[in-house]
Amino acid sequence: MTATTATQAADIVAALLFIFSLAGLSQHRTSRAGVVYGIGGMALALVATIIVAGRDISGGAVALILVAMAAGGAAGLWRARRVEMTQMPELIAVLHSFVGLAAVLVGWNSYYEVESHGSAQTRIAHDLLRIHHAEVFIGIFIGAVTFTGSVVAFLKLSARIKSSPLMLPGKNALNLGALAAFVGLTIWFAASPDLGLMIAITVLALALGVHLVASIGGGDMPVVVSMLNSYSGWAAAAAGFLLNNNLLIVTGALVGSSGAYLSYIMCKAMNRSFISVIAGGFGIEAPTGGDTEQGEHRETSAEEAAELLAGAASVIITPGYGMAVAQAQHPVAELTRSLRERGVEVRFGVHPVAGRLPGHMNVLLAEAKVPYDIVLEMDEINDDFADTTVVLVIGANDTVNPAAAEDPTSPIAGMPVLRVWEAENVVVFKRSMASGYAGVQNPLFFRENSSMLFGDAKKSVEAILAALATAQGGPPAAARQGARPSQQPTPA
Ligand code: TAP
Repeated sequence: MTATTATQAADIVAALLFIFSLAGLSQHRTSRAGVVYGIGGMALALVATIIVAGRDISGGAVALILVAMAAGGAAGLWRARRVEMTQMPELIAVLHSFVGLAAVLVGWNSYYEVESHGSAQTRIAHDLLRIHHAEVFIGIFIGAVTFTGSVVAFLKLSARIKSSPLMLPGKNALNLGALAAFVGLTIWFAASPDLGLMIAITVLALALGVHLVASIGGGDMPVVVSMLNSYSGWAAAAAGFLLNNNLLIVTGALVGSSGAYLSYIMCKAMNRSFISVIAGGFGIEAPTGGDTEQGEHRETSAEEAAELLAGAASVIITPGYGMAVAQAQHPVAELTRSLRERGVEVRFGVHPVAGRLPGHMNVLLAEAKVPYDIVLEMDEINDDFADTTVVLVIGANDTVNPAAAEDPTSPIAGMPVLRVWEAENVVVFKRSMASGYAGVQNPLFFRENSSMLFGDAKKSVEAILAALATAQGGPPAAARQGARPSQQPTPA
């Protein structure tokens, strides 16, 4: 087998491993295997690429590549070990920005290579030069939009800038104008590759990236993150064409299409228009409402909540971002065990965008060893709230906001939410009356069947556990008259 055939074979195996990785990552149980396939595919891809590069470049250059890889790998490992689960989306946004920047640099490099050495020395047939020019332009455009878009997403997700949408006058016309200018400039550049046009497209795309993401409001940020993931894939695929690297084209297309599909699924889950979100909030109006309080709220204590829980037949816990911030998943799992041992039916209702990244709550609950079979998705549990004695809303806000279902003027109108307010009693764990990520006040807090348990969620759950432990007498709930028997008799 020649070196070329061997690297081609390695490319195919790596591409297959990436496909297995995506398949594995789509389910909890197989996600670890998915990560291992991904690492295997990437290791193989890197080795194959270095072997190919090693044939054309000096030993010193290969050594430089290895040094760059070691430095990048060490930095990545250091960040991955230190990052908090709640900071994951912002880290992902930063990583997408690197892919975008790399695509821009590859584009510029490819332009200079052809301009300074001509088509003969760069192995590009003269007839194909125009296609190459167009590839350079498209690669730079997608890369630059991804780069600045991801930087703005990082700033919004890490609360360094406000998450509310930027509403410039004529914002849709600006976006459409930028797209039209891109098409026109690409045709011009293919005919006459001029440095001025390179600068113009880079500046235009950098500005468009900022505007597209700045125009999208906080509630739609989950879709933005997966959309940027998709853009970064297409940017990598464009770089693959310029570098003549088939594996990069395949990998970029896998990331691009899976990211686009994830964005589509999330838009459906949040009842948002896919086109509207990818077009920078096309047709979305400025939010109204904000933090204004909407009546009287009632406060409760850990002892009262413990009493309510001890007497409940069924409990649903709806966790949100605040559970992640408080790292309350372990005491929440302990509370689940304790209640189930008393015969109380306990289940979890997880909203598709609870927290700050897809599957955020599922990861935390799995880490705390909450059994999978009592963790249900929104659609599986939404009809059961009306028959539930107590709902514990632990650090969730937007995902349990009745305004989404009842107020057509709300900025989150139409987004499906967990209908917790239908339960007999709702206890909301949070630190203040502040609004959630979308910046919208929550009428749930002012309902007659709701009470607020103020404080850090972890401390509040621990206080309830302590109160339950010291509570005197009283038979388990299941033994009480009228109480429904638990459907999951096995303790958590
Ligand atoms: P949010 O609406 O973000 O609300 C979280 C609540 O947790 C806040 O109201 C906060 O109130 C409370 N909180 C924070 N720290 C706490 C602590 N230590 N103890 C107790 N409570 C605490 O939560 P959600 O319902 O999970 O909704 C998620 C939101 O994020 C949605 O708008 C979603 O669109 C957006 N988003 C989601 C993703 C993904 S993919 N999941 C990505 C980006 C954005 P206090 O400050 O009063 O305590």
